[in-house]
Amino acid sequence: MRIVVFGAAGRAGSRVVAEARARGHEVTAVVRNPAAGTPGDVTDRGEVTADSAAGTAGGVTDLDEVAAVVRDSAAGTAGDVTGPDQVTAVVRDSAVGTADDVTGLDEVIAVVGDSVVGTAGDVTDSDSVAAVAAGHDVAVNAAAQVGVPDFYPAATKALLDGLPRAGVPRLIAIGIGSMLESAPGAPLYAAPDFPPGAREFTLGHVAELAALQSAGDTLDWLVLAPPPTMLDATGPGTGRYRLGGTAVLPTEEGTPQFAYADLARAVLDEIETPRHHRALVAVGP
Ligand SMILES: NC(=O)c1ccc[n+]([C@@H]2O[C@H](COP(=O)([O-])OP(=O)(O)OC[C@H]3O[C@@H](n4cnc5c(N)ncnc54)[C@H](OP(=O)(O)O)[C@@H]3O)[C@@H](O)[C@H]2O)c1
Repeated sequence: MRIVVFGAAGRAGSRVVAEARARGHEVTAVVRNPAAGTPGDVTDRGEVTADSAAGTAGGVTDLDEVAAVVRDSAAGTAGDVTGPDQVTAVVRDSAVGTADDVTGLDEVIAVVGDSVVGTAGDVTDSDSVAAVAAGHDVAVNAAAQVGVPDFYPAATKALLDGLPRAGVPRLIAIGIGSMLESAPGAPLYAAPDFPPGAREFTLGHVAELAALQSAGDTLDWLVLAPPPTMLDATGPGTGRYRLGGTAVLPTEEGTPQFAYADLARAVLDEIETPRHHRALVAVGP
């Protein structure tokens, strides 16, 4: 399938991109600023390796060799490929030992950057959404902005306008656990002791959901809401997840933190086999 991912450089987005590519899908990874946005936003070293190996030669004379270099370096520094400087350092360090295979370090970095970073786009701009989404089967919105209360309403408005214009029939958006209910009609964020800052952020997601619910049938959508906790951003996950409804999924004492990697699996399963339509669905361990 052809999948366009907004927020592709983020923690959720990069996992979705990696999972989609691992399953053989064509992915357009949308980031705001590819030039500055950089390879460093990528957390999946396999993607860097695979894309570099298959990618443009640039200044590289032996792509397999570079792939090996990247793989080796990354293997020893899990989670380090999260900042452009770190990526640069990894390539530079590795290249020290394999100078013959590299004719220009800047070009190596550029190749990695191009292959990973993908397309420039702004999820809050409907023309931008329509332009980057054209020709795709499904869109994923994993974009986030903290401290910008209007972000989710603006993004949803742009997606509801841009995706149908682009002919994209389905959207999977990442929601937030605090929008889920602890009891029927009682969402977590509405509890009197819920932290005000987190409530304000949650209300953005709530507005997103309301906009989707009132959008009619122009778009098939699903909001997947992880548990109302921090998520594991570095681990590989368990390979398993559960889906629920609009309530917080009950968990047993000692249940490990839900991983972005498992969230990405849930997103991809819903892309490949859509089971939920126009719904908020809890996802968790
Ligand atoms: N427990 C939970 O329920 C839980 C936990 C974590 C996350 N979430 C939700 O999951 C989603 C993803 O979160 P995350 O942790 O992956 O966030 P993240 O790591 O901060 O990534 C967000 C990404 O969105 C991109 N972005 C910001 N504005 C954009 C725009 N206008 N157009 C396109 N992309 C834009 C950012 O790109 P730049 O690099 O350009 O800034 C960034 O890469 C959010 O909706 C968040 O609320 C829920």
